[in-house]
Amino acid sequence: MTTPSVLIDCDTGIDDAVALIYLAALHREGLIDLRAVTTTAGNVDARQTAINTRYVLDLCGLPDIPVAAGEARPLVVDLVTTPETHGPTGLGYATAPKDVDKRVRSDWQALWERQLGDETRLIVTGPATNLAAYARGHRFPPGVTLMGGAYLYPGNTTPTAEWNSWVDPHAAKEAFAAATSPITVCSLGVTEQMLIDPARLATLVDALGGAPVAAILPRALRFYFEFHEAQGEGYQAQIHDLLTCMIALGRVDYEATATTVDVECDSPLLRGTTVADLRGYWARPANARLVTAADIDGAHEELLRAWATLAP
Ligand code: BDR
Ligand code: CA
Repeated sequence: MTTPSVLIDCDTGIDDAVALIYLAALHREGLIDLRAVTTTAGNVDARQTAINTRYVLDLCGLPDIPVAAGEARPLVVDLVTTPETHGPTGLGYATAPKDVDKRVRSDWQALWERQLGDETRLIVTGPATNLAAYARGHRFPPGVTLMGGAYLYPGNTTPTAEWNSWVDPHAAKEAFAAATSPITVCSLGVTEQMLIDPARLATLVDALGGAPVAAILPRALRFYFEFHEAQGEGYQAQIHDLLTCMIALGRVDYEATATTVDVECDSPLLRGTTVADLRGYWARPANARLVTAADIDGAHEELLRAWATLAP
């Protein structure tokens, strides 16, 4: 079997950071070839998400994997970020050092052009801004997995909208319209099940056995625990983007159904609401594989297994 090439487009972000550490472990194990990381504006702005990403990869011993900041703002609407969810700079109570900024690139489209082959897995764990912008001038990348949306499930930003889809609804809509092969969709109904609490975090930090990246996790996750507790979710955190990466790479068992997805952009009430035509009313071709269930216990085992490989 060939090693899958992977490109992740993220908005780091605490759960994006956990996902990056997981991908770093797989890369160092030789289970994937992580070619590049690009970032979107979402949890914080695109430059800061790139700084955070560079910092996390450096701490994982991967300073040579390129990181580039993507589009600075959503396609149509103004950028809104969420410091209340991910902290003032996106890593909770942890902060990337200032000098990291010098090694953040801006050639994100060139990286995609160079790195996106037919076999590359492209994982999008932030708003779909870069994906939609890229698809305007290029063939739609095959093998896309996207974290976003809430299907017959309450939103986490408005009653019906999930954050990534709400931040740039026009991009999400354009991406689904442009998809020439179905996008694998990991939405809140599944990703909210992937929870880390203080006891699990302690086990995971222990497994990292003094690896440099372990130092930022308690500070990052404490902020995320507090946010979820303030939302009435308990003192724990939903790690959406990690589960998305595991599904994208087939590292956990999951179920998915072929369907057609569209996104509401212009109604103030329903901005970012994602709709799956599960009964085929629209008679349009499927543009999505909507993930409906995932083996969450298996995901926790896989996370612990992978992170233990980062221990010095
Ligand atoms: C998504 O929103 C962001 O805050 C998280 O990083 C995740 O990608 C969940 O709605
Ligand atoms: Ca994210």
